Amino acid sequence: EKGGYEHFMLKEMYEQPKAVRDTLEPRLSNGKVVIEELGMTDEEIRSINNIHIVACGSASYTGMCAKYIFEEMARIPAFVDVASEFRYRNPILRKGDLVIIISQSGETADSLAALREAKEKGAMTLAIVNVVGSSIAREADKVIYTWAGPEIAVATTKAFSTQLMAEYLLAIKFAEVRGTVSEEEVDDMIQDLKRLPDQIQMLLANRNHIQKFANRYIAARDVFFIGRGLDYALSMEGALKLKEISYIHAEAYAAGELKHGTISLVEDGTLVVAVLTQEALFKKTISNIQEVKSRGAFAMAVTVEGNTEIEKTADYVIYIPETNKYFTSSLALIPLQLFAYYVAVARGCDVDKPKNLAKSVTVE
Ligand code: F6R
Repeated sequence: EKGGYEHFMLKEMYEQPKAVRDTLEPRLSNGKVVIEELGMTDEEIRSINNIHIVACGSASYTGMCAKYIFEEMARIPAFVDVASEFRYRNPILRKGDLVIIISQSGETADSLAALREAKEKGAMTLAIVNVVGSSIAREADKVIYTWAGPEIAVATTKAFSTQLMAEYLLAIKFAEVRGTVSEEEVDDMIQDLKRLPDQIQMLLANRNHIQKFANRYIAARDVFFIGRGLDYALSMEGALKLKEISYIHAEAYAAGELKHGTISLVEDGTLVVAVLTQEALFKKTISNIQEVKSRGAFAMAVTVEGNTEIEKTADYVIYIPETNKYFTSSLALIPLQLFAYYVAVARGCDVDKPKNLAKSVTVE
């Protein structure tokens, strides 16, 4: 059933190229993004005032990525909340507000309750869900399915990748209708989306390198993940993957926040994983890497091909191939998943079923 893989998590990581392709292809038609199930008129898309993204755990981190993209690409104000907060804070929802609920299982109790709260307040609701016919899928006004297939490992991998894809498609659609991107930009983005599955495959093939590196960190006490913008959102996921399956304390920080406190925890040999995929922010994050290095940290960097400047600062560098600046999270994700996986394996952890965690959290 694991198809020759040692764990479901590894198998599911390897299913990512297919999952991402299966989520993309049905929504492309004659070189355009067509999301039939969205069922929104151009007029409705133009009248969206705010987007509220609500989810739990990893799904909320893809939501953080989406926030940056909706705002920058489509110029729509976007807000992200974890569902357990959103549902109890009497959120302000107005006409023209779109609430997007993201969930792999479609059964997460807090996300379902948040969806009901949003509907009650009269917002339009859209669910990005993996499990067909699940409660969230049934109750939302609109559903976009992520076609990841069944995910067995408790730690999400392929569902995460497909959520990103669904969000990219939605952002492109909104941006196109609202006139914030040119036709040429849309064409370029679609070409880049089509390349993602093969690029993910290529990064997975690099697993042995990452395994070797991971073996050096099996006794780590703390690991910090830093990034800015989209890379901050992805750092959240990198830290969660590591802590949930390896039980090593890991935390993500917006790189610029480090010196407001956390840097005091950096000691000789502490591993700091920096994600730098946004060219406009390279210099800023590099200076944060220098700060942690001067306190003895060992710096691993995940960055884009061509940013060789990084080698002057970081101790270990993983390059991701070139893509549109909005889609880098799909690629930078892969080494972070592999790193968490191999640290957990080397520590002898039950990778597919981490202690105290359930695949679907149906109680609050
Ligand atoms: C982390 C993980 C969890 C889920 C979260 C939401 O690897 O799997 O953080 O992302 O419990 O679950 P869904 O997406 O089913 O609502």
